[in-house]
Amino acid sequence: MRFSTSLLVPCFAALALAVPNVPRVISSNHGTIVEPTSGVVATTEGSLPFSYKDSNWCEAGYSPISVWLLDYAPTTANLNATGQFTDAAYYFGAFLIGNFGLPPLSGSPSPPTTLTLPDLSQYGAGSSMYIAVVETATTCPPGNQPAQYGLASVEITTA
Ligand SMILES: *[C@@H]1O[C@H](CO)[C@@H](O)[C@H](O)[C@H]1NC(C)=O
Repeated sequence: MRFSTSLLVPCFAALALAVPNVPRVISSNHGTIVEPTSGVVATTEGSLPFSYKDSNWCEAGYSPISVWLLDYAPTTANLNATGQFTDAAYYFGAFLIGNFGLPPLSGSPSPPTTLTLPDLSQYGAGSSMYIAVVETATTCPPGNQPAQYGLASVEITTA
């Protein structure tokens, strides 16, 4: 009996380590939201300039991003298993950035140069809101790795 117990314990320990509690893979890498700049005033149904410089930490040809509006300061802990927010104030959409001068792919829109805001009247004047960009890396070495998600955000203020 003593023999089998000593074999079983390491076996269960290895199993526990092999099954991750959180399926999503968060990366501390992220790109830079160039625009809007921090503290810019957002008017209801108005628009903001948008520019995002991707990190592309796994050097892919294309970097998928998703763009969100949140009414709290987001962290990577707020991302669900597929790297999305479940509690966003608004979802601007998913876009594809071509790296190394690669052209846009048909069917995958490039990031817009402006973001059109939704009705913000439910938020009081002077409320802090956040534009967030989730960048996904799918080509990290050594290959066949789960997608990694990196987060950048900038605070804006409602008019
Ligand atoms: C993550 O959130 C998105 C958007 O809210 C939702 O559509 C998707 O089903 C969620 N994914 C998982 C695995 O919960």
